[in-house]
Amino acid sequence: MNALVKRGVDRITWAGRGMPVLGSIRERWQKERPLEGVRVAACLHVTTETANLLITLKEGGAEVRLCASNPLSTQDDVAAALDEVYGVATFAVRGEDRDTYYEHIHRVLDLKPHVTMDDGADLVNVLHSDRRELLDGVLAGTEETTTGVIRLKAMERDGVLECPIIAVNDARTKHMFDNRYGTGQSTIDGLLRATNLLVAGTTLVVVGYGWCGRGVAARAHGMGARVVVVEVDPLRALEATLDGYWVTDMEEAARMGDVFITTTGNINVIDTPHFALMKDGAMLANSGHFDVEINLKGLAAMARERRKVRENVEEYLLEDGRRLYVLAEGRLLNLAAAEGHPAQVMDMSFANQALCVEWLVTKRPSLERKVYSVPEEIDREIARLKLASMGVRLEKLTPEQEQYLASYSLGT
Ligand SMILES: NC(=O)c1ccc[n+]([C@@H]2O[C@H](COP(=O)([O-])OP(=O)(O)OC[C@H]3O[C@@H](n4cnc5c(N)ncnc54)[C@H](O)[C@@H]3O)[C@@H](O)[C@H]2O)c1
Repeated sequence: MNALVKRGVDRITWAGRGMPVLGSIRERWQKERPLEGVRVAACLHVTTETANLLITLKEGGAEVRLCASNPLSTQDDVAAALDEVYGVATFAVRGEDRDTYYEHIHRVLDLKPHVTMDDGADLVNVLHSDRRELLDGVLAGTEETTTGVIRLKAMERDGVLECPIIAVNDARTKHMFDNRYGTGQSTIDGLLRATNLLVAGTTLVVVGYGWCGRGVAARAHGMGARVVVVEVDPLRALEATLDGYWVTDMEEAARMGDVFITTTGNINVIDTPHFALMKDGAMLANSGHFDVEINLKGLAAMARERRKVRENVEEYLLEDGRRLYVLAEGRLLNLAAAEGHPAQVMDMSFANQALCVEWLVTKRPSLERKVYSVPEEIDREIARLKLASMGVRLEKLTPEQEQYLASYSLGT
């Protein structure tokens, strides 16, 4: 075993220790083999946690192929170990160009999948455009992230979605934990690894106060940053205000920030007029799914010179002499500059993926070409298993309390 593969195996094993819920599914599947004969095409971030999911699917009997869901998030040691040790054909190289990225999606689809597993809906997009001949064989798919679910719901609305998809992101045991605590912690981790910045005393602007934004804001605040939030949704802006943050529009925030982190899933939320207002030395990063949140083309057009000053830090020298720093090419900071979410939180996200695939292939529910939520019983079961793995005791309703909650006769 070469050093790269060995490192991959060690890291995958380490992550597996933090994923007891997925581990319990794997143990059961080793005996029951519920996915025997099922082909799964997966387009996910190639990380140690993803490796544990794919090994679980394989031990459940599935044939699996994997490609990356982002060109910069692949961990090459994990890809090598999956390929050579765990028998999961993996098509991904960190830093691959756009053509290679799509070529790899095609290689995964060559498997002729029964189930697709996506993070951002790129695989399903290729399936619906260049590889339509495979659609007949697809039973259903799953989608991991907010942006992917938005794209798939748009396809459903336009009547072009050709297979049912389970929106794993909509499970509460996914977005309430993965997006908030996972993205929150690992985005700060990415910021620190890229810059070694002292967060205390820094004015850190979070654009988008959704599940991810809440997490980033809370963790940055915990480390002593002065957190500023920019939101377009009045309820979320109100929530951020009552959570104690300074809430304002992008124009004012642009003048205030030392560090900007976007978590909106939207395009050009930091745009050229904002760059013009920023302090010399401001840092710009994104933790939303695609690298479209910061208008990098616009910034490049304003720059006199660009150069890499550290791993994952690029300096844009503007005409007026100010320097702005873009982290990880505006791609998901937590995955490009750090290791992505901790295993303990991906345990729940990927337990959802695993149990949804099992539900699809064993129950064979009659599903339409729509985006579905994760069945409630799966969501609650994962919460129960996670609590048990953490040794947390759960109170039970007494029969009297159950009856009281179901009745309206008792009052003052
Ligand atoms: N980095 C990761 O590992 C990771 C993990 C999970 C999700 N994601 C991605 O992060 C993004 C956000 O996910 P989420 O679950 O927090 O979504 P969400 O819908 O809960 O939150 C997004 C928020 O952004 C706000 N917003 C939209 N446009 C805006 C604008 N122009 N200015 C300010 N605010 C704006 C929305 O009102 C919303 O409150 C998605 O692209 C998702 O796929 C990344």
